[in-house]
Amino acid sequence: SVREPFSEPKRYTVAPSAAGRIELSHIQGIPLLERVVKYWPRVEKFQASEEDLLIATYPKAGTTWTQEVVDSILNEGDVEKCKRAPTQVRMPFLEMTAPDGSSSGITKLEVMDPPRVIKTHLPIQLVPRSFWDAGCKVIYMARNPKDTVVSYYHFDRMHLYQPEPTVHYSICLVLCKMGILGWGSWYDHVKGYWKERHNKKILYILYEDMKEDPVREVTRIAQFLKRQLSKSTIEHIVQMTAFSAMRENPMANYSTIPDTIFDRTASEFMRKGEVGDWKNHFSAGEDAAFEEHYRKIMSDCPIPIRFTI
Ligand SMILES: *[C@@H]1O[C@H](CO)[C@@H](O)[C@H](O)[C@H]1NC(C)=O
Repeated sequence: SVREPFSEPKRYTVAPSAAGRIELSHIQGIPLLERVVKYWPRVEKFQASEEDLLIATYPKAGTTWTQEVVDSILNEGDVEKCKRAPTQVRMPFLEMTAPDGSSSGITKLEVMDPPRVIKTHLPIQLVPRSFWDAGCKVIYMARNPKDTVVSYYHFDRMHLYQPEPTVHYSICLVLCKMGILGWGSWYDHVKGYWKERHNKKILYILYEDMKEDPVREVTRIAQFLKRQLSKSTIEHIVQMTAFSAMRENPMANYSTIPDTIFDRTASEFMRKGEVGDWKNHFSAGEDAAFEEHYRKIMSDCPIPIRFTI
């Protein structure tokens, strides 16, 4: 397949309607979208309940996939129940506010009764305190950083209210610890939850493991959620949450997000869902430089992340 280098901004022109493209602001040194920062106080003081479940990921690491798996488990594989509403309504995005300010994760959560399933991309130190005070369960999914950054790049091309994906999406971005992307450094993010996984109720799962053996990983998630499911229900959930099924599911494929926000001519939200697409974007030299850097930074935290399966 054709290699698409990051460092070729001229190929990726941004639609003229992209007036909403913005820069990032910061909370405690973590770069976040301005609208996340603007409404931060109400996120910070959000009151979680003990039965709430938090699904935490770095952006583009299998969030929607994990959400759909969890909702399918909680509804015991009932397809119709899982299609009751779009992902962002069923499982609100804690810190997010719509670009026009019309709705937010918090406003959605406030009218829902626990147990609620809540999505976040916040690094562990920014998760509202009430989640820990209440002893909430957390499912964290990590994905290898090469595929994550490739996915992030294509996402920013299509999401017109994300910062413009041009110069800073060069390989330098990876070498700079990805610290200039929204939600901060990938390294700090995956390490933060990893180091706390035994101190808090955190189930740590890996995208590549779930891709390799979804039956095994869905079973682990079901056990963590204390749901007894038959082997055939687990297998059914695996079918329901396969990339091809989710891409065609209007309640899971973000087709409800308007074209003024998602420019689907640039890229699709459900793009590939594969392990190893980075090979189409990284040259051998870039990969070698990345590997050297990665080994150094991860040496104090050996998370068994794989780049191929
Ligand atoms: C989402 O699902 C619907 C229904 O299957 C389909 O028509 C649509 O093409 C899918 N993809 C997107 C990006 O909306």
